Amino acid sequence: MNGNLKLALQKKGRLTEKSLELLRLCGMEVENYSERLVVSVRNFPLDILFLRDDDIPEYVQDGVADIGIVGENVIYEKQTNTPVLEKLGFGRCSLLFAYPENKELKKLEDVNGKTIATTYPKILKDFLKSNNLNAKVIELSGSVEIAPSLGVADLICDIVSTGNTLMMNKLKKSFKVFDSEAVLISAETTLKDEKKNEYLTDLRRRIRSVMTAHSSKYLMMNIPKNSLDKIIGIIPSLKSPTVLHLAEKDMLAVHAVIPSDKFWHIIDDLKAAGASGILLLPIENLIQ
Ligand code: PRP
Ligand code: ZN
Repeated sequence: MNGNLKLALQKKGRLTEKSLELLRLCGMEVENYSERLVVSVRNFPLDILFLRDDDIPEYVQDGVADIGIVGENVIYEKQTNTPVLEKLGFGRCSLLFAYPENKELKKLEDVNGKTIATTYPKILKDFLKSNNLNAKVIELSGSVEIAPSLGVADLICDIVSTGNTLMMNKLKKSFKVFDSEAVLISAETTLKDEKKNEYLTDLRRRIRSVMTAHSSKYLMMNIPKNSLDKIIGIIPSLKSPTVLHLAEKDMLAVHAVIPSDKFWHIIDDLKAAGASGILLLPIENLIQ
């Protein structure tokens, strides 16, 4: 026991690379992890445990790991006492019904009397119950997508992200059961441990800064002095924009942090108001 915070990550799968990328953006130098079960972070009191994603909620609940990054789907399924501390905005996927390409599921009620294979029996049964549906649920531990072609099930209820797995198995998407993204979870004990909670607070602050930075851009432009009010009215700034004087006396430079997705909505208005030399730059960190 070295007193470090222990973080559980998915060993191999959709969340692995994105989780490591998030840690790197948080300034963590992660040792080369290939095939190792535990690696340390060089410049932060953090050890990373690589586990099967389905095991992460229980390992965190039991305190084997202090915190974990895992999909909401897995947490709901496992019903563990592991508070969600942050939504992480990546690893978005949906739990869906999927049907063989040559068959059809026209309305939700068509699942009545069918056999459904899934690795998420709890979520699926809750969904069937709340929709007054009656179907047989077969729980599998993996490779659910081959169940229909093996004749084990009529349809499946599985996680779909890009849709590649379904396509390769000649299945098509049908009704949605649950939306999910990656979240940071914690053990209750971690939050009560003074030292660990201190490390965790630091980590969470970095995570939030990376997330805000990623959804924001730094906007710079030159404008005619007399259109300042108009331009300020257009910019959806996080804070009041910075206004600077230029050598050319009728012109000003305006800088502002804006939500990334707003840029293309305001660009025409900015130009119409006389803005020129418009630059949009990425932001690495944003501390609020
Ligand atoms: C899910 C699901 C599919 C895959 C779908 O697995 O079981 O295998 O993702 O992704 P796609 O639509 O991009 O092809 P998950 O990452 O949850 O890992 P696991 O099944 O090994 O737990
Ligand atoms: Zn899994």
